[in-house]
Amino acid sequence: MRITICKDIREMTKKVAGEVAETIRGNPNIVLGLPTGSTPEELYKELVLLHKDQGLDFSRVITFNLDEYYGLPASHPQSYHTYMDQHLFGHININRKNVYIPDGMTKDIGDHCRLYEANIKRHGGIDLMLLGIGRDGHIAFNEPGSSLTSRTRIKTLAPETIEDNARFFKSKDEVPRYALTMGIGTIMEAKKIILMANGKNKAEALGLTVEGPITHMVAASILQMHNRVIIYTDEEAAAQLKHIPYYKHEEKSWLTTVEY
Ligand code: PGA
Repeated sequence: MRITICKDIREMTKKVAGEVAETIRGNPNIVLGLPTGSTPEELYKELVLLHKDQGLDFSRVITFNLDEYYGLPASHPQSYHTYMDQHLFGHININRKNVYIPDGMTKDIGDHCRLYEANIKRHGGIDLMLLGIGRDGHIAFNEPGSSLTSRTRIKTLAPETIEDNARFFKSKDEVPRYALTMGIGTIMEAKKIILMANGKNKAEALGLTVEGPITHMVAASILQMHNRVIIYTDEEAAAQLKHIPYYKHEEKSWLTTVEY
């Protein structure tokens, strides 16, 4: 695991966008895993700028979103379909045929989730998975207690997630209670993973993820078992990390290693 501590969200998302851009330039057919939420919103702004100012080409990029609310149609203002259009896809030259987002209105959840997994496999797996982290340590909507080998499926949202996401809806009651989400096993098969954390309300979850035991009660802690994970955090979210001097020292020699 590599940890890089940035001054603030702006510095963090600029660095991550730079890394994503470099990866796309190196492999124009890259398969990306994409998150939603406030943190990625800033990242997508940077990627849109890189597309507009430097011609970053998304025409062959393939994307799989991590999750979607169950019961929201794609056209709903708070669906992740709408979010992705508003923040990224509507502003870049992505081929819509290359975009995969779970269908929150699917009639057959089991089949739909199996097909989602099959599509990831058909494209050769996810090369670069981008993740946020929930206050409860979730990655995608893998809430505390999720199986660490889970695959794409329906999941009940945790009360703290409903509370956190209520800011996007008129009231807490309107937040869907379920989501379709990639599983932890699905996420762990990505070749490389970048997790972004910002703000003081993520400090406890990030501390447990990086320096706590691996447990399904903090889903992100399973990332300790992956050999190519980079955590980008701002200073506030890093507040509970105990080994900051080492992470900063190690960062200087990153270029010489392939596995972390
Ligand atoms: P946030 O969400 O970026 O809106 O804080 C992160 C997450 O829940 O994965």
